[in-house]
Amino acid sequence: MSGEPPDSGPSSSGKSGGVLSLRGLEKRFGGLVALEGVSFDVREAEIVGLIGPNGSGKTTLINIVTGLFPPTRGTVRLGDIDITGIQAARVARSGIGRTFQGIRLFNHLTVLQNVLVTASVAGAHASAAGWQERARSALGKLGLGHLAYRFAGSLPYGDQRRCEIARALALEPRYVLVDEPFAGMSADESDALIAQLRQVRTTYECGLLVVDHDLRVIHDLCERVVVLNEGQKIAEGRPDDVYADPSVIEAYVGEKAAAQFASSTSKAPGDGHDGANPEGGEIR
Ligand SMILES: Nc1ncnc2c1ncn2[C@@H]1O[C@H](COP(=O)(O)OP(=O)(O)O)[C@@H](O)[C@H]1O
Ligand SMILES: [Mg+2]
Repeated sequence: MSGEPPDSGPSSSGKSGGVLSLRGLEKRFGGLVALEGVSFDVREAEIVGLIGPNGSGKTTLINIVTGLFPPTRGTVRLGDIDITGIQAARVARSGIGRTFQGIRLFNHLTVLQNVLVTASVAGAHASAAGWQERARSALGKLGLGHLAYRFAGSLPYGDQRRCEIARALALEPRYVLVDEPFAGMSADESDALIAQLRQVRTTYECGLLVVDHDLRVIHDLCERVVVLNEGQKIAEGRPDDVYADPSVIEAYVGEKAAAQFASSTSKAPGDGHDGANPEGGEIR
């Protein structure tokens, strides 16, 4: 049946397989068109990068897919199930996990408790021991097992981002959408996270949609890249091909010139990070 994702499946988790398919996505905030006619697929166990200048609609796209708000137009399908506009919790139970651009952990819960939250939501039918196993396994995949009893808010930035990924993995998802997971990381930390995300894909056999500004990281991690500019898809393909595309270069060079102009005329330059505005972006 189309249009109704399962709340819980007949056998186990109720998760749907198949391609994550976005068609004709449009999002208007009043007069502002944040997304316009965006279509692409993420296939099972595929790692796709989503890049684009600040404000190009990347976070909005993740928010639509994960049910934070509905699109103005267009559809989101998971396999043959239409999940457009369904509630965020049901999207999660359908097998789509996410992280947030501005980290949203329960700071006064432990790392393990943060991950148990999704383990229990996703596996409401399972036992508490089952939730523990699921949560600890997810923590292990991100190298966080030794931090299980630390308060999430006390962790360094990079570990908090990894904790958010572990929390998404505790859903045992078909897809995980990660919004700027490499922000604020050194090159070494980024390389470690690349290796962990590859391992995640192999272990969970899940597709990943990775939003980031670090073009080197996206190149090294992703099999395919989609580029947004001013809400529209301007390129899609293999990283090397996309990076050589004149329209992509123009979009990035244009932004860099604007950022340089802004910093040369402003007395209050930004810090280059995103914590202050979780759903906004930053100029880099
Ligand atoms: N909840 C919202 N209300 C109004 N405007 C929004 C909202 N979320 C995003 N926008 C606007 O939509 C555009 C795209 O934003 P966003 O998706 O955050 O871009 P990106 O993640 O690519 O930096 C921006 O102009 C932003 O200001
Ligand atoms: Mg964003």
